[in-house]
Amino acid sequence: MSRKGTILVVDDEEIMREILDALLSQEGYDVRLAADGPQALDLARTMSFDAAILDMMMPGMDGIGALEELKKIDDDLPVLMITAFASVENAITAMKRGAFDYITKPFKNDEVLVVLRNALAQRRLVAENRALRQTLQAHVSKFGDIIGRSARMKQVFDLIIQAAPSRTTILINGESGTGKELVARSLHQNSTRSDRAFITVNSGNLPPDLLESNLFGHVKGAFTGAVYPKKGLFELADKGTIFFDEIGNIPLETQAKLLRVIQEREFMRLGGVETIKVDVRIIAATNVDLRKMVEEGRFREDLFYRLHVITVQLPALRERKEDIPLLVQHFLEKYGAENQKVNLELAPEALDMLFEYDWPGNVRELENVIERAAVLSTGNRIGADLVPDHVRTSKAFQMPQFIVPPEGISYREAETAFQRGLIESALEAAGGVQKKAAELLHIKPTTLNEMIKRHDIRPRRKRAAHAGRPGAAADEQELSGEEEVVADDAR
Ligand SMILES: Nc1ncnc2c1ncn2[C@@H]1O[C@H](COP(=O)(O)OP(=O)(O)OP(=O)(O)O)[C@@H](O)[C@H]1O
Ligand SMILES: [Mg+2]
Repeated sequence: MSRKGTILVVDDEEIMREILDALLSQEGYDVRLAADGPQALDLARTMSFDAAILDMMMPGMDGIGALEELKKIDDDLPVLMITAFASVENAITAMKRGAFDYITKPFKNDEVLVVLRNALAQRRLVAENRALRQTLQAHVSKFGDIIGRSARMKQVFDLIIQAAPSRTTILINGESGTGKELVARSLHQNSTRSDRAFITVNSGNLPPDLLESNLFGHVKGAFTGAVYPKKGLFELADKGTIFFDEIGNIPLETQAKLLRVIQEREFMRLGGVETIKVDVRIIAATNVDLRKMVEEGRFREDLFYRLHVITVQLPALRERKEDIPLLVQHFLEKYGAENQKVNLELAPEALDMLFEYDWPGNVRELENVIERAAVLSTGNRIGADLVPDHVRTSKAFQMPQFIVPPEGISYREAETAFQRGLIESALEAAGGVQKKAAELLHIKPTTLNEMIKRHDIRPRRKRAAHAGRPGAAADEQELSGEEEVVADDAR
């Protein structure tokens, strides 16, 4: 077997097989040819390949069918699809089924060689990443700079490992502050492009022409003030990654041009006539529902589908609260170091508050809260007093969601269940003290007491979970003292 790699070429046209054979052999690859899908599969079952080049349109088993079968034999095999320009749609389907990349006919020799080199590099990376993934699965709490050990975050890490090596366009979706940029950087760092540029495009509120001259560059004299020619971000990102932060902000007219770059990987500078080819990986992020924007005609449907090949959905912090302690620890260390404070820790009451809060600003908001506390703290223990007001008073009343089943429901029973739930929550919030619970519900203690009897609610001790932690003993005592009063009340 050749040291550079063994390549399987599958094409029904003899001339194409000959061209590719000559090109690849000359580059030092070991080449095996197959004239159709079944032949290719026979070969793949008897020997192992480092990459395959597969024609999309073949009589009998077509490229997609052959791709799927090849992947069953070797899931990691990078497969390059060759497609006629007119059927790029099929190429997208192929990417979704696991093809590494596609090349449109007629292709340039260099193009094939570059993509093939990427494919082989990817294969090595996939093998390394597989090993990494196995170690990660055991006891992960972070992936690069991304902290988390919740099931949702582990899924994200997995997807990064799987998707990073290819050139596939990736869409990262998540609320503000969930770590979209962090994930984009991580995708770049774990790809074969990591030693090349990572360029962020903040389209913000730029008018379309300015945005386009930023993206595509311009030639001298393209517009008033274009005294010098300028390279655009796409050119600067060549062989690297370009990251569109908040892709939903891109104006419709620029979207059309972006689509063309994604499809053809070429563009023209503003005012220019020469097409410029680039090899960039495109990553886009958004915190809006792009599908809805498509429905409203504010985002191009074709662009949406191009971006949508692989989507990384980042969970909101409120959906993965089990990661809060880890994140807190991470930020305490980070901001402790910045403020020359060591061994900072959060008092349990303060941590409780962070658990109760809803975190609309997600990890960024948590980071800000911890940074503020780290700056303001005097000792190394950060107490509840350093938790900002809006975080501590966030617990808002929430009506339960009522669902009336198709067979209907007894109004009286539903009302009783609602009353009971409300009383139980008030008692819990009052630490079991009836007088306090009555105050919370703005009713007289006697009224509450009547209702407790009517609903047969038993007094429950609160906060058992907190027993044993420093300061808990004192709390408990105070509570049980008051509970006796409660018991009196109840009689
Ligand atoms: N899982 C995480 N682990 C550690 N830090 C995180 C994590 N997620 C987010 N952060 C931090 O939170 C801040 C916001 O993250 P980032 O900028 O990636 O979010 P974003 O989703 O791009 O937000 P926006 O939509 O507002 O642009 C950064 O300082 C980042 O380092
Ligand atoms: Mg961002």
